[in-house]
Amino acid sequence: MATIESILHETRVFSPSAEFAKRANISGMAAYQALCDEAKSDYAGFWGRLARDHINWHKPFTRVLDESNAPFYKWFDDGELNVSWNCLDRHLATQGDKTAIIFESDEGEITHCSYRELHEQVCQFANGLKSLGVKQGDRVVIYMPMRIEAVIAMQACARIGAIHSVVFGGFSAKSVHERIVDAGASVVITADEQTRGGKHHALKATVDEAMSMGNTDLVRAVVVYRHTGTDIGWQPGRDKWWHELVEGQASECEPVWVNAEHPLFTLYTSGSTGKPKGVQHATAGYLLGVMTSMHWIFDYQPDDIFWCTADVGWITGHSYVTYGPLAMGATQVIFEGVPTYPDAGRFWKIVQDHKVTTFYTAPTAIRSLMKLGPDLPQQYDLSSLRLLGSVGEPINPEAWMWYYTEVGQSRCPVVDTWWQTETGCHMIAPAPGAVPLKPGSCTLPLPGIDAAVVDEAGHEVEPGYGGFLVIKRPFPSQLRTLWNDPERFKRAYFPHDIGGGRYYLAGDSAHCDKDGYFWIMGRADDVLNVSGHRLGTMEIESALVAHPYVTEAAVVGRPHEVKGETIVAFVVLKNKLPQGDQVAEITATLRDWVAKEIGPIARPEEIRFGENLPKTRSGKIMRRLLRALAKGEEITQDTSTLENPAILEQLKQPAP
Ligand code: PRX
Repeated sequence: MATIESILHETRVFSPSAEFAKRANISGMAAYQALCDEAKSDYAGFWGRLARDHINWHKPFTRVLDESNAPFYKWFDDGELNVSWNCLDRHLATQGDKTAIIFESDEGEITHCSYRELHEQVCQFANGLKSLGVKQGDRVVIYMPMRIEAVIAMQACARIGAIHSVVFGGFSAKSVHERIVDAGASVVITADEQTRGGKHHALKATVDEAMSMGNTDLVRAVVVYRHTGTDIGWQPGRDKWWHELVEGQASECEPVWVNAEHPLFTLYTSGSTGKPKGVQHATAGYLLGVMTSMHWIFDYQPDDIFWCTADVGWITGHSYVTYGPLAMGATQVIFEGVPTYPDAGRFWKIVQDHKVTTFYTAPTAIRSLMKLGPDLPQQYDLSSLRLLGSVGEPINPEAWMWYYTEVGQSRCPVVDTWWQTETGCHMIAPAPGAVPLKPGSCTLPLPGIDAAVVDEAGHEVEPGYGGFLVIKRPFPSQLRTLWNDPERFKRAYFPHDIGGGRYYLAGDSAHCDKDGYFWIMGRADDVLNVSGHRLGTMEIESALVAHPYVTEAAVVGRPHEVKGETIVAFVVLKNKLPQGDQVAEITATLRDWVAKEIGPIARPEEIRFGENLPKTRSGKIMRRLLRALAKGEEITQDTSTLENPAILEQLKQPAP
């Protein structure tokens, strides 16, 4: 894993080949600069032009940006459109028979679905939802395997103006419950099971458990897609089979034309408190963001075979599986499984078999595949590839170089894309036919994105100095608010002390180099990034203290070669310190408990027990010390302000 030090000294630069640049949507630095200049000289005109170029409007907008109630910005707010219509119907006349989705199941079964077929299935399912009484503005929770039906469910919601809230299939019953209740969902869509890496995982049983936790009276129906055919519990009246719901439904469904600002979806993500945030995106601005980034950063070409490996449970799957590629009329691969099943060549085999041109994945996958099979890419024909992408966490230069040389055969640009659930689409990333690449840097902001690194007072820092990453002007694809919590939205993203409440605060620390390139150093708040998954330390701490054994807990991240970060928990038990076999026993109990409370991705790697936690005299837990202890570093900081310095000795010992 590269240290900050080695990233700071990275000097390699890779310019686009003349051949790539010639065909690119942004061809050369002058073209990139011209777009940036256009945005600078007429911000509203720039975004208005793009919104007209990319989106088909049912009713054209006349206003671009309304800042009167900042930071609750509105974009194109007197226009009307439908996202599903933009993703499906508008392609029917010109390319109805083009393959929209090449689906490959965990076991390698392949299905092709054309735009016409997808349109028909979305319409039928949308009609099915309508028959359940779902209407514009209703919330629908989707807890599905990574299959075509997940996309159909999301697109069907968009078609009728219902607001979907997808929950990643790896989250626990408690997480599903929290999201159903917070969203006030009227329908839940799920499957009997999901299959990943040859293993089956229950989904319907998890929904049943969530539904039994109370406050779910608003849920009128649970729609179940039959995937593996396993036996499941059934509540007559409430539970409906997907195939029965769509049976006999018309294959046309007039879209509901919604206002540009109508919420398209909410997606829960971790913040620095225990309660996940329901990030709310609007219809038109979000659609515009995913389309411009497909065009500029993925350099979308009509003959591309696009493959983003993310699950639709995350924002990456929303933007670059469900919406972006379909809005562009692309052919994309959707894969149900995992990169290492049946072996570590699976991704490369899929690229070969489907002639993938554009491949987008996370550094954690790249690092694990690099470790498991450094020479494997050479055993496959990867000559179809023309562009590679990375997302979710900083990519260390070593992994970047392996990706570039071994997977991309030194021919394909690597677009390292920095963005977030909240931004909806790429914010800082290279336009690959223009911007020279530096391994480990996400390079330059997209045209129109006014990103900067500032100090605690909101002043821009000199190149080379670290600070907070902010975006200084509103942009179309940004979150509109947090579901049910506008105050938290303002507090978390537009704090008064940084930029006077006008800057969007990303929560990351970063620095710029002398060329204006951005280098992301990681989160500046209490959010962890484990294998590209975002988790709040407070969420994990709340789960731990909810266990009857536990009095107090503090959670920190520890750098990890493949996962980026892993979770280390420091725990104070109600009873005295565990001894001998008890340690392993209680550790296993608590790790499983967290996995059950939140989901397996939140399971701590290590738990250490102490009689106490290191605190200042005012009672604040000293996380910096805990981070050092987790890493096994000698404590060199001044510990004289500690209430209980002796505790450090106890917590220093790694778990057996
Ligand atoms: O810390 C940054 C990291 O992931 C966070 C956003 O997580 P999430 O909302 O789950 O969205 C992930 C997919 C967009 C950011 O605050 N992050 C994301 N992309 C990068 C990154 N860190 C460094 N480089 C990236 N390319």
